[in-house]
Amino acid sequence: MIKTAVITISDKGSRGEREDGTGPALRHLLEKHGYQIDYYKMIPDEQDLIEKELIHLCDMFTLDLIITNGGTGFSKRDVTPEATRNIIEKHVPGISETMRMKSLAITPKAMLSRGISGIRKNTLIINLPGSPKAAVENLAFVIPALEHGIDILK
Ligand code: MTE
Repeated sequence: MIKTAVITISDKGSRGEREDGTGPALRHLLEKHGYQIDYYKMIPDEQDLIEKELIHLCDMFTLDLIITNGGTGFSKRDVTPEATRNIIEKHVPGISETMRMKSLAITPKAMLSRGISGIRKNTLIINLPGSPKAAVENLAFVIPALEHGIDILK
């Protein structure tokens, strides 16, 4: 079992002003591939909160994978890649490169996601865009290769 956390990063969602469709959609895709969702949380687009949450999850829990969704675009409040960059120890550019490259066949707007991927301690972190459609499409492109990398990290 791959122990996974899903973090939805959304100002509106965390205030209860928008129903979270992305978290459940990602859970469905991950569980279909045998991933176990141990933790789910929704937090606002605040860089220090995102950093603290990621550090806490990587350092205090034995999670294999953290999937974030949201906050990767051009809005002033979009800071998920900056928070992730600050707390990872190693970059894994190939995962995010693959997601953007394959997503370009669906929409040219794929180039607007600034999401990154990286490793802190034994945990792989992957940023996904926020909409259910974009998040599921992006994750589906990389999921076949993740288990091999996570096995090496353990
Ligand atoms: N990738 C895929 N596969 N499908 C999409 O519909 N939407 C794009 C992009 N990546 C999209 C996608 C859009 S419109 C934006 S603005 C960026 O992801 C960033 O999304 P975010 O601001 O919700 O993180």
